[in-house]
Amino acid sequence: MKHFEYTGAGMESGRGVAVFGAYGHTGRFVVAELRGRGHVPLLLGRDRERLLAQAQPGDEVRQASVDDPASLDRALDGAAAVINCAGPFATTAAPLIEAALRAGIPYVDVAAEIEANLDTFAHFAERARAAGTVVVPAMAFYGGLGDLLATAAMNDWTAADEVHIAYGLSSWHPTSGTLASGAVSGQRRGGRRVRYTGGRLEYHDDALPTLEWDFPAPLGPQKVIGEFTMADVVTVPSHLAVPEVRTYMAAKAAADLSAPDASAPTPVDEHGRSAQTFVVDVLVRSGDAERRLVATGQDIYAISAPLAVEAVDRILTGRARTTGVASAGAAFDAPDFLRALSPHLSLHTPPATRTTPG
Ligand SMILES: NC(=O)c1ccc[n+]([C@@H]2O[C@H](COP(=O)([O-])OP(=O)(O)OC[C@H]3O[C@@H](n4cnc5c(N)ncnc54)[C@H](OP(=O)(O)O)[C@@H]3O)[C@@H](O)[C@H]2O)c1
Repeated sequence: MKHFEYTGAGMESGRGVAVFGAYGHTGRFVVAELRGRGHVPLLLGRDRERLLAQAQPGDEVRQASVDDPASLDRALDGAAAVINCAGPFATTAAPLIEAALRAGIPYVDVAAEIEANLDTFAHFAERARAAGTVVVPAMAFYGGLGDLLATAAMNDWTAADEVHIAYGLSSWHPTSGTLASGAVSGQRRGGRRVRYTGGRLEYHDDALPTLEWDFPAPLGPQKVIGEFTMADVVTVPSHLAVPEVRTYMAAKAAADLSAPDASAPTPVDEHGRSAQTFVVDVLVRSGDAERRLVATGQDIYAISAPLAVEAVDRILTGRARTTGVASAGAAFDAPDFLRALSPHLSLHTPPATRTTPG
């Protein structure tokens, strides 16, 4: 197995990790996580005043715009890696990846936009590999965590018939970035829906089914919306041979998201996390055999920070398994990565009862 070693940089050298979109809701969690783990965050974004308002004494702030490649080059000068938290990623991912490739540094983003994630694989796989660097899209709650869980649940299986990822969110108060990204993805699909079946993405106009998903205790059975398709349908099949990847969303959280008066998350603890809790229940099926792995935690935005920062940490310390564009499960040792998140995530292996719908 080829391991990617980022030579000439790393935590020891004190080079900063750049965060583009540093003053966004998720960007702020990422900056705090970097600080907490001893990295030097470089605060990047398009609004200098808002960057300065967030900066702590000694922080370096660099204004940059995705429309101005030279500003991105200046912003990434001397950085060890970049984490892109500025969405919609349909606009920001390609210019930032281009800049990271010019700088010769790893790129990680938190994009949950299926089309933007697909573009990253399609447009940058060859070039990132040729440059000997790694690009990790969707390294966050959606797209990243489900892929790590599915990869770990697969264990020694190299292929499976189905992967099911059920999101048991207690509520979903979306940020403006989430809503904007959903709107952009919706436009890119021409208002159609998308699912992953028969080994490919399929765009359709069918109504979404409501089903019951038997989450492990204490959550228990919950109404979920089936084919509520998340970025896992890009990340999981990017490296696992699975023709059916289905994602489900707690019906209550789906209703919160689409409510006309949807409100932003409200902090309730000293980390700035909201009261939202999540259960991510992953079931993989091969013939009659099923394997299951479940993660629970608090606040889908907050958990995205340790996911993205752990990824950067592993890349900078020679623990990425590949170069090119790679999802979380392909880039890292999934069980080991999940264990490293134990301060933020609880993992359970409930019995793999036959809960797969249909
Ligand atoms: N995969 C996941 O599970 C996951 C988790 C968390 C977040 N996300 C995604 O991450 C993105 C940000 O979410 P958020 O919660 O942080 O939202 P947010 O609080 O609304 O912040 C969005 C940030 O992106 C910046 N931004 C947007 N367009 C930009 C552009 N063209 N150039 C420069 N900066 C731009 C905004 O800056 P301005 O204020 O200057 O516009 C702001 O800093 C969303 O796309 C969201 O879907 C995904």
